Amino acid sequence: MNRAGHFLFVVFGVVFLAATSQANSAVDNQKKSGFARLDRVTASRATANGIEIKSGSAVLHITALREDVIRVRVGAAGQLPEDASWAVLATARTATVNVSPESNAATVGFKTAKLHIAIHKDPLGIMVTDMAGHVIAETLPERPIEFHGASFRVYMRSPADEHYFGLGDKPGPLDRRNEAFTDWNTDAFGWQETTDPIYKSIPYFIAFHKGVSAGIFLDNTWRASFDFNKEYRDAYSFGSEAGPLDFYILYGPEPKTVVETWAWLTGTTPMPPMWSFGYQQSRYSYYPEAEVRRIADRLRSERIPADVIWLDIDYQLKNRPFTVDPERFPHFDQMIKDLKAQHLHTVVITDLHIADLPNAGYKPYDEGTAGDHFVKNPDGSTFVGVVWPGKSVFPDFTQKTSRDWWGTLYSDFVAKGVAGFWNDMNEPAVFEVASKTMPDNVQHRIDEPGFAPRVASHLEIHNVFGMENTRGTFEGVLKLQPNVRPFVMTRASYAGGQRYSSTWSGDNSATWNHLRQTTPQLLNLGLSGFAMAGADVGGFAGSPQPELLTRWLEVAAFHPIDRDHTAIGTNPQEPWENGTPEDVTLRRKYIEERYRLLPYIYTTAEEMSRTGLPIMRPLFMEFPNGAPDGTPMDLANTNSFLLGPNLLVAQSPFPDEMDDYSIALPPQGWYDYWDGSRIEGSSGRKAIDNELVGQTEVHLHRSVGTLPVFARAGTIVPEQPLVQSTDETPQGPLTLRVYPPTASGNACEGSMYLDDGLTYNFEKGEFLRMKFSCKLTAQGLSVMVAPREGSFAPWWKMLSVEVYGAKKPAASATIAMGGHSAALATGFDAEHHRVTTLVSDDGKGLELQLTY
Ligand code: GLC
Repeated sequence: MNRAGHFLFVVFGVVFLAATSQANSAVDNQKKSGFARLDRVTASRATANGIEIKSGSAVLHITALREDVIRVRVGAAGQLPEDASWAVLATARTATVNVSPESNAATVGFKTAKLHIAIHKDPLGIMVTDMAGHVIAETLPERPIEFHGASFRVYMRSPADEHYFGLGDKPGPLDRRNEAFTDWNTDAFGWQETTDPIYKSIPYFIAFHKGVSAGIFLDNTWRASFDFNKEYRDAYSFGSEAGPLDFYILYGPEPKTVVETWAWLTGTTPMPPMWSFGYQQSRYSYYPEAEVRRIADRLRSERIPADVIWLDIDYQLKNRPFTVDPERFPHFDQMIKDLKAQHLHTVVITDLHIADLPNAGYKPYDEGTAGDHFVKNPDGSTFVGVVWPGKSVFPDFTQKTSRDWWGTLYSDFVAKGVAGFWNDMNEPAVFEVASKTMPDNVQHRIDEPGFAPRVASHLEIHNVFGMENTRGTFEGVLKLQPNVRPFVMTRASYAGGQRYSSTWSGDNSATWNHLRQTTPQLLNLGLSGFAMAGADVGGFAGSPQPELLTRWLEVAAFHPIDRDHTAIGTNPQEPWENGTPEDVTLRRKYIEERYRLLPYIYTTAEEMSRTGLPIMRPLFMEFPNGAPDGTPMDLANTNSFLLGPNLLVAQSPFPDEMDDYSIALPPQGWYDYWDGSRIEGSSGRKAIDNELVGQTEVHLHRSVGTLPVFARAGTIVPEQPLVQSTDETPQGPLTLRVYPPTASGNACEGSMYLDDGLTYNFEKGEFLRMKFSCKLTAQGLSVMVAPREGSFAPWWKMLSVEVYGAKKPAASATIAMGGHSAALATGFDAEHHRVTTLVSDDGKGLELQLTY
């Protein structure tokens, strides 16, 4: 029986019981023991955009913010939780849509244009279904919502073939099914695949059931937890030890729609600077200054394309944030300028803990104290904890004035030309205490629209502290340079933190399983909003084997952020270290490929900033119906992912195993990215007896020389000539890699976005957007380039069109442009299975006809 059927069965079973039962609600009966279960509806009332339910003394508000977004708020003692959020944008939180009430003998509720919300009266149950009858969310009839004192838990039914994704950076498999997690931001040095919690708390996940997906977001900053099929095989549950019971249901049905709706609710990642997509070189620690200069020179002399050098805590005087050690870095300002002249941007660490240094002329301490900006103990004294600088004090980031002040601390670095900022240790980490953080009773001040101004305990603020740290940084840096896109990287955050910062996966290890772990971790981060994410390439703790470093640098070339970083005391980990000359050649080759792909990566980044769609995507996002049985394809291809919509990177599921492996390609048609050949048999999905078949198994040879990458048929991928840094103007044509569709009539599209890479002038129209398409014709193929949009001037004059999957030269090529047509010369490259031609691009659009 399907879930809807089961629910109906329950409905008919209890109608009779409901009519005869007049007893008080269990909420009232059990209140005294501190335990309460919302067991039945005692009253209900339609509201303009939803319904209010009473269950004894408990009150539930279920409202529609959009046709496809439902919010549920519950107050056990009759009062709804505060209508406020750190995560949800005020515009989204206050959005409403008219609904129509719907009720019958057993249920009350309402419908929107996309969803039915039925509240079963006895036993109390919430069921959300779509117009096609798919169950989106359904509380457990026997156990829907429970309170134990201040804590609460919501139980939802889980069909055996439902899968769960998201929850931020939590380690482990991509699918959260059969796992349980806690949200409590934790400095987790050396975390392993089973470690939980680690750095971030994103209490949001996507449920995916046979191609239908929905997001569930528990907006609660206290210590929260999630259980998927562990306590009950057929249920998942979420709850928190205190704070608001306030959750949102986001309907797809497509996974992409859910992700876009999550961005509507909590914001997108703002457009990052172009240089942040270049290769980034980091280490704890690069000092003294001569060492930083040596690394910069070596990047250039080795011709490893690179854009960024990171400075970790040891550029500072005694690890004190916002200082520079004058002995180690005697010409710090000049060094930043010299690096810039080498086309290298500098990112510096600026941890939040301020050294507890009264009367020492340490500006962050003096100003922070004068402005009353530090968090306090219950007795009113300033809280002091030990971190890198020794005894430290901590800004009160949930208070606007403190965030604004924090932002001003960046003025010197910004004036010196420092390009980006690293907010680390902001769980917040505190050394020498078992809890690794502040005591629960530390006092934070809340000054935030929506919230009543008040003092809150650390228990409430802990999980949002890191995000508010990055908010202070992002907004402060932006204020200092209003027309430059800030770049911030954080370790801790909360839902919505993508508005202020990129992130990385913290202190991973230089082991094979950590290389493997990067795929699910970065995918789940992207699904949770953090599309700008990376892992320490090569691993942070320990020194990698040479082959591990090579393979890690290969796959990281296809990650949103490509930053090599390692701990103090490990072996050198730059691409030219720790390997044979062949290793170095391979590492360079993959970083070079990333630079060639920058037009495509940057186009994907622009889409991310507009829609929330991540740069790195699980297969099920692009192919929700990819597997015949409705299982997300990722679960079979456990280490594959997509870079943007069109490139599939198929790392070995266990990259340290010697074995060859196979993967199932989504039903679309694919080309080998490296040799351009069409993958035989990948002709798309066929329906046989209503069963979807036609996935193509490809057998892949495990080789350090090639990381398998596939390009989707029916797409056009823009690429550029190799540069050594994004500051450099590419010389030569823009390349359009055309991967023809597998059948005539199938779509073939691509696009390209470009701007100055640094400012917000794109908002004033200074961008360039090109749309490409192609179609199979009776004689061959046509490739169309639409007229350019936007006023940004391109760096190219010519387009190099490369049509892949070619087995022989073209018979002819003609170009139609501005009412004229002319024959064109073509080339044929058998090794790369491509026909090539060069056309000039005046921006007004063109059509190229190839015949074979
Ligand atoms: C933390 C960070 C790491 C950094 C180190 C020193 O462990 O996670 O990336 O290198 O602190 O600042």
